[in-house]
Amino acid sequence: MRLMGSWALAFISGVAIWFLAVVPVAAQPKIPADFAFDQGKDSPGQVTFSHEKHKTRVEKCTGCHTKIFKMKKGTTGPATMAKMKAGEQCGACHDGKTKFGDKVAMAVGDEKSCAICHKK
Ligand code: HEC
Ligand code: HEC
Ligand code: HEC
Repeated sequence: MRLMGSWALAFISGVAIWFLAVVPVAAQPKIPADFAFDQGKDSPGQVTFSHEKHKTRVEKCTGCHTKIFKMKKGTTGPATMAKMKAGEQCGACHDGKTKFGDKVAMAVGDEKSCAICHKK
């Protein structure tokens, strides 16, 4: 069998380059808007989670998804302080120890932190 003519090879690789440039790689999910958690019993105020504010601190989506939080609102289960203090949910990072760059994430059990998450 004869090899393809060089014009045919050039044509095929041209199409391949065009295809890679024009067709986007698997679309990334968009960053969701800030959202509030339903308040549990005795919650000292509504907690809003901001993807936008976390974006600069936790570079990769995999920092939270899907080991710590599922990627659909309300599917991880109710957030409780007991779970967080045990290092789950928000407490996986907010333990007063884990470092991000040169900053230590505030601790969920720290009296000074309550009002940073819970707004009246
Ligand atoms: C600091 C933790 C954290 C990081 C980092 C993070 N997320 Fe999330 N994400 C959450 C939480 C919390 C939820 C809600 C989970 C629940 O309610 O069970 C969520 C939910 C979502 C949802 C579902 C929204 C809905 O309406 O159902 C999408 C989509 C999502 N995240 C995309 C992303 C993408 C894309 C990135 C990276 C750019 C990212 N997340 C990074 C914490 C994070
Ligand atoms: C990193 C964010 C964050 C910090 C800091 C934080 N919480 Fe929470 N807390 C939450 C989230 C999220 C929920 C679930 C939504 C709700 O019930 O308002 C919650 C729920 C609660 C609840 C109701 C559910 C339960 O477990 O009993 C109480 C009470 C509570 N927090 C008290 C506190 C107190 C007191 C502090 C400070 C010592 C504090 N929280 C600090 C995020 C935080
Ligand atoms: C993967 C790690 C990680 C997880 C999980 C995480 N955070 Fe954070 N968060 C950070 C870091 C890092 C900062 C910046 C340092 C700080 O302020 O503690 C931050 C900052 C914040 C701030 C201050 C934002 C501001 O105004 O500058 C709030 C409020 C907050 N987080 C709430 C939450 C809540 C609520 C959850 C759970 C739904 C959560 N975080 C889960 C890493 C995380």
